[in-house]
Amino acid sequence: MSKKWKVYVTRQIPHAGIELLQKECVVLVNPYDRPLTREELLENIKDADGVLCLLTDKIDVEVFDTAKKAKGFANYAVGYDNMDVEEATKRGIPLSNTPGVLTDATADMAWALLFAVARRIVEADKFLRSGSWGGWGPMQFLGADIQGKTLGIVGAGRIGTAMALKSRGFDMQVLYHDEHKNEVMEEKLGAKQVDMDTLLKESDFISIHAPLLPSTRHMFDMQAFKKMKNSAYLINTARGPLINESELATALKSGLIAGAGLDVYEFEPKVTEDLLSLNNVVLCPHIASATTTARTNMALIAARNLLAMLKGEKAPQCINP
Ligand code: DGY
Repeated sequence: MSKKWKVYVTRQIPHAGIELLQKECVVLVNPYDRPLTREELLENIKDADGVLCLLTDKIDVEVFDTAKKAKGFANYAVGYDNMDVEEATKRGIPLSNTPGVLTDATADMAWALLFAVARRIVEADKFLRSGSWGGWGPMQFLGADIQGKTLGIVGAGRIGTAMALKSRGFDMQVLYHDEHKNEVMEEKLGAKQVDMDTLLKESDFISIHAPLLPSTRHMFDMQAFKKMKNSAYLINTARGPLINESELATALKSGLIAGAGLDVYEFEPKVTEDLLSLNNVVLCPHIASATTTARTNMALIAARNLLAMLKGEKAPQCINP
């Protein structure tokens, strides 16, 4: 088959996705092990018929003006706050994302962070490796119980629901805050839909799974931290700017809340300096979807979406309204 389209992939992704695109397209891939600079991105998409992009690429007016031939942009992520959906829709440019295939990987990571911070795993690991361990001690690394505690889920979509369902082994009470009622969580867990203040006040662990929107930016700020229990932990695997990071650092330093587990940051890849020196926060480099299976499926879905756009069909995971 002659290859009809030239597509640009803005970062190396699992080969299955590239291979799928290569069946019908000439595929050019960012050769560097880093995101493209803005100039490189604009230069490389100039002549592309389609673009497979990442959450680290800002897909905005300038990009649409530059990639004049592009029949669509397929995001390699479920979140798409990096894309100007309104502008693309106005111009009739299709956009897509990769929902569904990273749900469990992300919820698992939220649990991993919850365990790590509640049971001080990273701190204890560092201590042992430093050669400081003199043997078992009754007062060493006392942490928080998880069994029977209250879990607050902010954003009860696919990932929030998976996070909540995985609490069953720990016999937790589950509260959730979402504009929609979540029947699965209510039926299977007896979860209660509550307003944000109730969730903040009553939860022992809060896990954020909300999308980043103008209305959700900084939903966790000093005012919110003041409403949380001093013994509560905050977990974020969604998007960094949902939290005011410098106010979080202050809350963690002053003991306003007990700890946090973060996979995402307000100014990625920068992390608020103060967080780096705190023991009561576990920091991971945006790896919640980083399982081989999830990332491979994301590559396949993004490739399928892009191929559909090139053919003038509706992408299976189109995000334009
Ligand atoms: C997403 O998909 O939105 C994650 O942040 C990266 O996989």
